[in-house]
Amino acid sequence: MPYRAYVITSSDSCFAGEREDVSGPAAGEMLKEAGFELVGYALLPDERLLLADRMREICDRGEADLIVTTGGTGFSARDCMPEATEDVAERMVPGIPEAMRWYSLQITPRAMLSRAAVGIRGNTLIVNLPGSPRAVRENLGFVLPSLDHAIRMMLGGGH
Ligand code: MTE
Repeated sequence: MPYRAYVITSSDSCFAGEREDVSGPAAGEMLKEAGFELVGYALLPDERLLLADRMREICDRGEADLIVTTGGTGFSARDCMPEATEDVAERMVPGIPEAMRWYSLQITPRAMLSRAAVGIRGNTLIVNLPGSPRAVRENLGFVLPSLDHAIRMMLGGGH
């Protein structure tokens, strides 16, 4: 059985229809190529309560093993994806965002501006990615090969 992934885009401008969401679909394509079953996609505004509610729902209903989010990790006043993730996570996973920033800093110094967080709620791993399609490809590309093992351990499998 493939692991199930849900993609959430956090973007006021895409939600308002002013811009097309390229990043969410890009993440979805990468996940499918890596063997995940894509079970859902949500385009939401940068609203902490809304984002947290949706993620909590997906986790508590057991809809997905992995939630990958894109956007809302920067410094704008409305960027709140790490906070929404911390609101719902029962355990934080600092190593994954550390690894993403370490890798990305070799590409651009602006990688230090991503506040992305990763956490676990129940049986679901939540991974934040920055908002640009390029950042999605670079960050997800680096951690994706390790997510299978992470999810297997989270679900009670050994090494
Ligand atoms: N990481 C990688 N690998 N490639 C990038 O282009 N962009 C950075 C950073 N991380 C970037 C990256 C920039 S410019 C910002 S502001 C932060 O991610 C946060 O992005 P967000 O505000 O779109 O979430």
